[in-house]
Amino acid sequence: MHLGNGYGTHGAWRMPWVDPTSYTSFDAKVRHAQAAERGKLQFLFLPDGPSYVADVDNEPPHYNLDVMLTLAAVARETSRIGLVATGSTTFNEPFNLARQFKALDVMSHGRAGWNAVTSSGEDVAANYGKRVPARPERYARAHESIQLVQALWGSWGRDAWVHDQASGQFARGDEVVPINLSGEFVASRGPLYIPPSEQGQPIIFQAGGGGNGLELAGRYASGVVGATFSIEDARSQRAAIREAAERAGRDPDEVKFFAGLMTTIADDKRSGLDRRIKLTEHTFAQRIPYLGQMLGLHLDPARLDEPLTQEQLAAASPSPRDPRSALALKVAREGWNLRDILAHGVIDYHPVIAGPPVEAADHMQEWFEAEAVDGFWVSPDVYDDGIDAFVDGVIPILQDRGLFHREYEGTTLRDHLGVPAQYGLDPRIAG
Ligand SMILES: Cc1cc2nc3c(=O)[nH]c(=O)nc-3n(C[C@H](O)[C@H](O)[C@H](O)COP(=O)(O)O)c2cc1C
Repeated sequence: MHLGNGYGTHGAWRMPWVDPTSYTSFDAKVRHAQAAERGKLQFLFLPDGPSYVADVDNEPPHYNLDVMLTLAAVARETSRIGLVATGSTTFNEPFNLARQFKALDVMSHGRAGWNAVTSSGEDVAANYGKRVPARPERYARAHESIQLVQALWGSWGRDAWVHDQASGQFARGDEVVPINLSGEFVASRGPLYIPPSEQGQPIIFQAGGGGNGLELAGRYASGVVGATFSIEDARSQRAAIREAAERAGRDPDEVKFFAGLMTTIADDKRSGLDRRIKLTEHTFAQRIPYLGQMLGLHLDPARLDEPLTQEQLAAASPSPRDPRSALALKVAREGWNLRDILAHGVIDYHPVIAGPPVEAADHMQEWFEAEAVDGFWVSPDVYDDGIDAFVDGVIPILQDRGLFHREYEGTTLRDHLGVPAQYGLDPRIAG
């Protein structure tokens, strides 16, 4: 389950049943996490810039106030769900990342994950008074950073903490040792003074594509979150990640691929579309010209109530530059008017389901059975009621079809994802 700012998607903050101040509400975050945990979801995933790229006159900033503090609050009020936060390898020192994520892992009794990203936006870099380094440098630093972080996690020996009150020995000093690692970009002496959690140490995630991201995922990640709009593309992304893991000497089953899915769950298709119109209609005038580009047509924003004419449909050709274009054309051919075409979410970040729970369940089953994904990264439209709608509507269908568990298999994120034990560096990679 994706959790961004306090509300959900575009326009969520303006829905009459939403508290418009929940942007700063940690209580709201806790409620949303508890709803997801009631549905037995394996993990929450918090993206992060951190930057302010929003039209703040009209929309809340995209990101959470502070992902680590949010997950600390959530950790105290939940007991099973995994807690994955994004942290930049470019703009953080490995020692800080190692310390914060392992502390969260200990606090949550083994439920923490780190989505290691290199940050590609100049707006983020500017917050640190820097420019975004060239991609080779960003990824070289990322490899060094992840290895340093994992080495620091392992620097307090697994069994070093004896806390023996009778003898007075707190820990075995010879098992808490400096790492003394130094690379081209980052270095740390260590040790990190944090004992292992119930899962040993946090799990690594990676988000996004590209050859560099793939190599990073192949070596270190147990979970990859991707953006993909068709079963064929998802299948090839998943296969590429699995091959990258194999090249790194790992078992491909050690890395799970999660595709984004945005949900507007309603009683039926019409009310789903109406809900999305209510949420996103303020963007339509600006999106119609882009929809036109996707279809190779000139579309008039003043004619939202009309479907495409026979002539337009005959002349339309999906743009090869946008992977969403074929789906947009398919929806247009079904005869929906322009407003409803946009309400289908044809220009969103991930595939959109706007309709009854069974539609979401069918989509997930189809992609899963086609071996295109190991799971989904679900973004409900409005957190305040959209998480419950997903949990109460879609999860029982998936459970009845034997596609989703009815209970957590264990207590840690490592248990939930079936990730093999690891403490410190992965010896297969470190070599
Ligand atoms: C689904 C998805 C989620 C992402 N989440 C984040 C994020 O939370 N923070 C971030 O800085 N980058 C995020 N990214 C961006 C990628 O990490 C990556 O930087 C981007 O795809 C650009 O590739 P490059 O680093 O090779 O230039 C995400 C990408 C995708 C596809």
